[in-house]
Amino acid sequence: MTISIIHGVNLSHLGQREPEIYGSETLEDINKGLQSEFPDIKFQFVQSDIEGELVQAIWKAAKKSQGIVLNPGAYTHTSVAIRDAVAAIDIPVIEVHLSNLHAREPFRHESLTAPVCWGQIQGLGARSYPLAVRALIDRLA
Ligand code: DQA
Repeated sequence: MTISIIHGVNLSHLGQREPEIYGSETLEDINKGLQSEFPDIKFQFVQSDIEGELVQAIWKAAKKSQGIVLNPGAYTHTSVAIRDAVAAIDIPVIEVHLSNLHAREPFRHESLTAPVCWGQIQGLGARSYPLAVRALIDRLA
């Protein structure tokens, strides 16, 4: 089974970026942790700060994988384009956030993308990612 992990804008700097909010784990720690926790899964990892590249990554993932874990970063709250791509594809997408959006600024309370995802996991730090992968594996088994 192939699962795509798509990390959006500013997530390349995890570990040094506001660690009190996003934790001390780097993006590489998260990706390596997933591969070691799920050795039988083939992962495709993508990170981009560019909205259009994330849209392209979603379309590509729909062809090459059976499920997507998506953290769009700040595009969660603004991107109609990413929402449209998620809505258009046929494989399940789980939206993930490290932080609890509802405990933060009001502009983070709305997700444009979550309504077209299969589900959403947020606020559990880096642990949100393996929980999303586990949910996809259970659904796709
Ligand atoms: C985030 C939450 C977003 O509001 C923020 O812009 C991010 C990270 C999270 O994982 O908690 O970049 O998606």
